[in-house]
Amino acid sequence: MLNFEFYSPTEFVFGKDREDECGTYAKKYGAQRVLIHYGSGSAVRSGLLDRVKKSLSDSGIYFTELGGVKPNPRDTLVYEGIELCRKESIDFILAVGGGSVIDSSKAIAIGVPYDGDFWDFYSGKPIEKALPIGVVLTIAAAGSEGSGNSVITKEDGMLKRGTGSDLLRSKFSILDPALTQTLPAYQTACGATDIMAHVFERYFTNTKEVEITDRLCEAVLLTMVKETPRVIADPNNYDARANIMWAGMVAHNNIVGVGRQQDWNSHGLEHELSGLYDVAHGAGLAVMMPAWMEFVYKHDVMRFCQMAARVFGCNMNFADPEVTAREGIKRFREFLHSIGMPINFAELGAKEEDIPTLVEKLGVGDGRRAGFVELSAADCTEIYKIAAKASL
Ligand code: NZQ
Ligand code: ZN
Repeated sequence: MLNFEFYSPTEFVFGKDREDECGTYAKKYGAQRVLIHYGSGSAVRSGLLDRVKKSLSDSGIYFTELGGVKPNPRDTLVYEGIELCRKESIDFILAVGGGSVIDSSKAIAIGVPYDGDFWDFYSGKPIEKALPIGVVLTIAAAGSEGSGNSVITKEDGMLKRGTGSDLLRSKFSILDPALTQTLPAYQTACGATDIMAHVFERYFTNTKEVEITDRLCEAVLLTMVKETPRVIADPNNYDARANIMWAGMVAHNNIVGVGRQQDWNSHGLEHELSGLYDVAHGAGLAVMMPAWMEFVYKHDVMRFCQMAARVFGCNMNFADPEVTAREGIKRFREFLHSIGMPINFAELGAKEEDIPTLVEKLGVGDGRRAGFVELSAADCTEIYKIAAKASL
């Protein structure tokens, strides 16, 4: 196991109706003037926004609001949010929504105290200061409620880029599984795919002797394989929603990834797809993750056999382990298909002729992307080609 630090200072508040306590928690973390940031309307329609406002009012907290965050959140709304926060002397941002709303809130949080363009932080500049944020989560997916990351799309050129710092970890995150019961099945499945991808990005490692995090990864994956079909069949299954919601947090606050080299190339390859076509991140991952697996599995066949056997229940073929490794990847793709995810470019709405553009935007040049297997631009092209043509 590698040396590591694990810092996860967020206070998680879990369970039915806990969103009614957001005023209490905002106050606990010093909020006096709050920006409520939310998406394109689901929080308004469900009545959640009104409950959040009431809770803040009951705690004597001033608030203003900014809605309209789109999936794959845009820089343009971030600039608007920064201006609004400055004008209103906002000292705390409350994100009410999913990964897109939380990431947009994080971007505003670093932009407000910074004199320059907030995009600098998405172009490599280290983050030194940020307003505190809190979260009321409405979809189990990105894990941004427990992560120090934020991903924003620059509208000019549709460039999707990320940044990260412990300063971006939420002060508190309220997780009420009942809030996710209004999600359309497709968004539920996109979220489930993202959660599984966050685990796989950590699971496929070159670090040896990491039994504890291997087993934690497998526990989250097994949970997702069991619970996702249950919520697709019955969106109101609170208990299955609850397991998925906590799995989404555990998958990405890095508790399953410490002490081991991680990959993140499937995410990198996917971000170019959601950047170019504005598709849901989870749907893009459903297409890219198995394709990446097919390209790299020979690098460590036994690790793929372990996944196949422990997560997807494949029998080990000792005479030819590659058969088992391939069977595991096949079952993963079949699982994604069974929950309604696309499995190739055509189903996603991507075009094979755009592969050179996707690779160019990745910016690999003559270098290599680090990871479980280092990838050249030619390797990335090959993975996109596998994804384009994939079938069951
Ligand atoms: O905008 P509204 O109307 O709220 O609708 C949203 C949106 O259309 C809807 N939705 C959310 N909660 C709902 C609901 N609809 C009905 N009922 C509810 N309870 O779902 C749609 C998707 O929401 P979004 O926030 O985009 O989903 P997700 O949480 O998957 O976030 C995706 C974004 O997170 C980034 C992705 O790249 C993408 O931009 N990621 C962020 C990460 C991080 N910060 O750590 C890591 C991830 O790997 C990921 O890259
Ligand atoms: Zn993700």
